[in-house]
Amino acid sequence: MLSVSGLTKTFDQQPVFSGFTLTVTRNRFAVLIGPSGCGKSTFFDVLTGVTPADEGLISWQGSDVDHLGDLAAYMHQKDLLLPWFSLLENSLLPARTGGEDLKQARQRAIQLFSRLGLDGYEKHLPHQVSGGMRQRCALVRTLMFNRDLVLLDEPLSALDAITRKSLQSLLLLLQSEFNRTLLMITHDVDEALLLADDLYLLSVKPMRVVEKIELYDDKPRRFDNPELLAIKKTIMQKLEGDIDHVS
Ligand SMILES: Nc1ncnc2c1ncn2[C@@H]1O[C@H](COP(=O)(O)OP(=O)(O)O)[C@@H](O)[C@H]1O
Ligand SMILES: [Mg+2]
Repeated sequence: MLSVSGLTKTFDQQPVFSGFTLTVTRNRFAVLIGPSGCGKSTFFDVLTGVTPADEGLISWQGSDVDHLGDLAAYMHQKDLLLPWFSLLENSLLPARTGGEDLKQARQRAIQLFSRLGLDGYEKHLPHQVSGGMRQRCALVRTLMFNRDLVLLDEPLSALDAITRKSLQSLLLLLQSEFNRTLLMITHDVDEALLLADDLYLLSVKPMRVVEKIELYDDKPRRFDNPELLAIKKTIMQKLEGDIDHVS
């Protein structure tokens, strides 16, 4: 379980969040949804130690930690692949920096390439493949970190609608197959409703959790289900009520 309490971060004397508190249950797909600029990426940066918090506690599995730098894999909106490395070499970077057995890592990466529909593209350079494929490769690289906790910062937002749909299905598959705790940021309500086990609605800056909604277990979810539509309606009302806009 991930637990964050009293987390405070200030830029130029303006709090991005102050006393931010959140709990994520292990092996759940937790989705944070909130307006742009509310502090979501800053929260991930603080969680992963990219930038220090001013105050607050972070704990993982009951132990306090400075940050989750070595405990979580972090995937950004941009794929951040190195342009001069093949897709396979890019996916092997975590294994290289982590000093893993490269032969084993290569085998695992090749399996993941196949699982994510990238077989045959191992030797391609990032610029030779589509944005969706680059993002899938970034996902392989994220999984190659072998961490229990995976942080995803709007991983699909740069993709077109169709590619996005197929990657959403893939994320669901990965959750059921890999038993990870996923914490994802999105500003897309439909995406949140399709993927989340627990949905956290966030306010404008200074960011706080307005409400945590536990969704029903049955996945894949469909928007012709009246229950899901009713939840969507409630969420839209809350977001519109508490937040100026969701972009
Ligand atoms: N390095 C920084 N220096 C100053 N202000 C920053 C910095 N990074 C982010 N901010 C500010 O913090 C707020 C939250 O940004 P961010 O976490 O990127 O929002 P989100 O990811 O929710 O869109 C914004 O108002 C942004 O301008
Ligand atoms: Mg952001």
